[in-house]
Amino acid sequence: MPNRLDLPAGFRWGASTAAYQIEGAVGEGGRGPSVWDVFAARPGAVRDGHTGAVACDHYHRYPEDVALMRGLGLDGYRFSIAWPRIQPTGAGPANPEGLAFYDRLVDELLTAGITPLPTLFHWDLPQSLEETGGWLNRDTAYRFAEYTTAVADRLSDRVPAWITLNEPFVHMVYGYALGIHAPGRALMLDALPAAHHQLLGHGLAAAVLREHGKEVMIANNLTPVRAATADPADLAAADAYDALHNRLFTDPLLLGQYPDLSAFGVTEDLGGAVRPGDLKLIAGPGLDGLGVNYYNPTRIAAPTDPGLPFTEAPIDGVPRTAFGWPVVPDGLRELLVGLRDRYGAALPPITITENGCSYGEELDDQERISYLDGHLRAVEAAVAEGVDVRGYFTWSLLDNFEWAEGYHQRFGLVHVDFETQKRTPKASYTWYRDLIDTHRTWHSHGS
Ligand code: GAL
Repeated sequence: MPNRLDLPAGFRWGASTAAYQIEGAVGEGGRGPSVWDVFAARPGAVRDGHTGAVACDHYHRYPEDVALMRGLGLDGYRFSIAWPRIQPTGAGPANPEGLAFYDRLVDELLTAGITPLPTLFHWDLPQSLEETGGWLNRDTAYRFAEYTTAVADRLSDRVPAWITLNEPFVHMVYGYALGIHAPGRALMLDALPAAHHQLLGHGLAAAVLREHGKEVMIANNLTPVRAATADPADLAAADAYDALHNRLFTDPLLLGQYPDLSAFGVTEDLGGAVRPGDLKLIAGPGLDGLGVNYYNPTRIAAPTDPGLPFTEAPIDGVPRTAFGWPVVPDGLRELLVGLRDRYGAALPPITITENGCSYGEELDDQERISYLDGHLRAVEAAVAEGVDVRGYFTWSLLDNFEWAEGYHQRFGLVHVDFETQKRTPKASYTWYRDLIDTHRTWHSHGS
C-alpha cells in the first residue's frame, strides 16, 4: 500500500496516451494518411518495421480501456485527437465518422466520471499537409486553427480544458532537425521555422478555444539542464542548450519573446519566420495551465565539434530505464522550482501531463513503481516549495507504439499483448489505484 502524498485535495490524477500510439484502425472511419503512416512504412525508419496500423486497437476497444481507467479511479484522461480522422486531407469539411469516434469516447469517459483532456496535435499531421511543407509552411498553423474549430464546435460542450500541442520541441528536433521521427527531415537548424509555426498554430487554436469559453493548455517536454562542470565553457553550453530545449517554447508563451539564440547563429526572428504580431498571438491573454512532460534531466558540456554550441554529456551513477534514460526523480522538483523562479507571476498553474518509464514485459513492474513513487515525491517536494502543481498524468495507461522504437519500449501501467490485444494490469496499475484512493480517502476525512 503506497504511503500518502502531501498534495492538495483537488489534485487531479490522470493517465495519458496519444492517437497514433494506441488507436490503430488507420484505414477506417474515413481517416486519411498521416505523416506517421508514411514514415513508418519507410524501410529502416522504425525498429523492426513496426507501425501504428493496429497498435492497441483502441479505436475498437475504447470501452474496455475506459473501464481500465475507471478501475484506476482516474479524475482525467489525456488522449489526442487524430487530425487525419477529422480532416483526412488536412483541409475542408470535417469527416463525420471521425468526429463521431471522439464523441463516443468523450461520452464513455464522462459516464465513467472521468474528465476528458484532449490534445489536438500529437505529431500525426495529415500527410497532404506535409506535401505542402508541413510545419515548415506557415499556412499549416492556419489549417490547425480550422481543424480546432471543427473539433471544438463538436466537443467543447463536454470538454472543459484542451491541450493544443504535444512537445513542439521534440517534434521539431526529431521530426525536422534529425529525421528520427516523422516527417523524417534532417534540416538541423533550418528546422527552426517548424518551432515558430507550431507556436503560431497554438496561438491561433487558443483563440478559437477561448471563443468557445474553454481553458487552454500546451504540453511541453522540459528538462532541467545541468552543466557538466563549473567551467565557463560548459556553463555557456548549458545555457545555449536550455535556450533551445526549454526557453524557445516557454519564453514566447509566457513572456511574448524568443530567447537569445545567438550561440546558434540564429537571429531573433528565427531566420525570418517571425512576422509582426505573431508573438502577441502566441502569448495571447495567457495560458490557463502549462503542461509539463518530464522524463529526465540533461547534462551539457562545451562542444566537441563546431556544428552546435553544446554537446550532451552522460549522467553517471544513476539507474536507467529500458530506453537507457537516466532515472533522476529530483530533476522534476528542480525543473518545477526552476520554472517558478524563472517566470514568477507569469507562470500559470502546472499539470504534469506526462511522466513515466519503459521497462520489460514483466507484470510485477517494481522498477516502474519506484520510478513513479520517486517522481511523485518530487512533485510533492515542489508543491511544498510553493509551486502550483494541479495534477499528475502518467505516461502511459497502456503499452503502446513508441515511435521509432516500435513496440519495443513498454511504458504502460497495463500490459498489452500485441498478438491477442489482451490487456493485463501490471503491479504499477494496482499501486497507482491505491495511491489515488489513499489520497481521496485522506482528504474526504476532512484533513
Ligand atoms: C513523449 C511523447 C509520448 C511518449 C513519451 C515516451 O515525448 O509525447 O508520445 O512517446 O515521450 O517516450
